[in-house]
Amino acid sequence: MNQKIYVAGHRGMVGSAIVRNLQAQGYNNIVTRTHAELDLTNQAAVQAFFEKEKPNKVYLAAAKVGGIHANNTFPAEFIYDNLMVQNNVIHQAFLSGVQKLLFLGSSCIYPKLAPQPMSEDALLTGKLEPTNEPYAIAKIAGIKMCESYNRQYGQSHGIDYRSVMPTNLYGPGDNYHPENSHVIPALIRRFHEAKVSNAPEVVIWGTGTPRREFLYVDDMAAASVFVMQLDKKTYDSQTEPMQSHFNVGFGSDVTIAQLASAVAAAVGYQGKISFDPNKPDGAPRKWMDSARLNKLGWLPAISLSEGLNRAYGDFLKQI
Ligand SMILES: NC(=O)c1ccc[n+]([C@@H]2O[C@H](COP(=O)([O-])OP(=O)(O)OC[C@H]3O[C@@H](n4cnc5c(N)ncnc54)[C@H](OP(=O)(O)O)[C@@H]3O)[C@@H](O)[C@H]2O)c1
Repeated sequence: MNQKIYVAGHRGMVGSAIVRNLQAQGYNNIVTRTHAELDLTNQAAVQAFFEKEKPNKVYLAAAKVGGIHANNTFPAEFIYDNLMVQNNVIHQAFLSGVQKLLFLGSSCIYPKLAPQPMSEDALLTGKLEPTNEPYAIAKIAGIKMCESYNRQYGQSHGIDYRSVMPTNLYGPGDNYHPENSHVIPALIRRFHEAKVSNAPEVVIWGTGTPRREFLYVDDMAAASVFVMQLDKKTYDSQTEPMQSHFNVGFGSDVTIAQLASAVAAAVGYQGKISFDPNKPDGAPRKWMDSARLNKLGWLPAISLSEGLNRAYGDFLKQI
């Protein structure tokens, strides 16, 4: 419990949930730095940080993240920043003697046309979705960094670097920006504004039929800590040296129409919900196969309706 743990990205949605989880478990030696205090793209600064702090474990939840619009507008920043952050953190962690590290990736590492549900072995079997290809390439490189360091230095230096790939997350610390947010925070804002203004109807883009999977961020944090804490034998029993990441999903998905009704219920919006089929739908289904992790005993604890109630509470605190 007095192990020194560095959580990179502790002010972000996932990083802050990991800190909450570790603190609840009694870890009281958590090291953090804000982006302003430590720019993780700066190799010399990251080196100095690791030399000074010498943490025992690292959770790497810092990344440049964003929706389709941001990925399309700033592809150079998405590939450069993410490669730099993860290369600096993983390599300097290694040089300073960190034996355990967890890298946070994303479901966008999988090919656009991967069979559903997407299992870990779909990685590198086809072309990626073009809009977030630079971001996904960086995330794939992060998995391969961890695997390569394990393969080269696992025995000699006793290191064990792992990766988890979350599905769509939501919950406290989410970004509720009106134009640049993911589907759940965007719907929370729209239904809240419709409730406040007594709008009779909310129109949702697309047909409402695409299916998506959502996981509450505290469940993601619990899964991250669970994977980090698995003993090596158990971790190795479900992974291969060059196929070592775990998917972390909710286990089932919902249609956008079902999601909209659930968000409206959480917010208390009682007007009509309709759909605009002239707007694009995106992929018909995106769903992760999390059986590999479930087999080891991790399951989500927070239902969609409970998670949405909590997320709405967080939204009300933020506005
Ligand atoms: N949210 C999701 O639905 C989702 C789904 C799948 C995977 N993930 C993964 O989970 C991880 C965390 O995502 P998140 O949703 O928690 O993102 P987030 O809320 O944006 O948090 C990311 C954190 O990283 C920090 N950061 C970014 N660049 C940095 C830099 N150069 N130096 C230092 N700090 C930097 C950010 O600080 P500033 O804000 O100050 O820049 C922020 O605090 C990412 O790897 C992401 O791919 C998230």
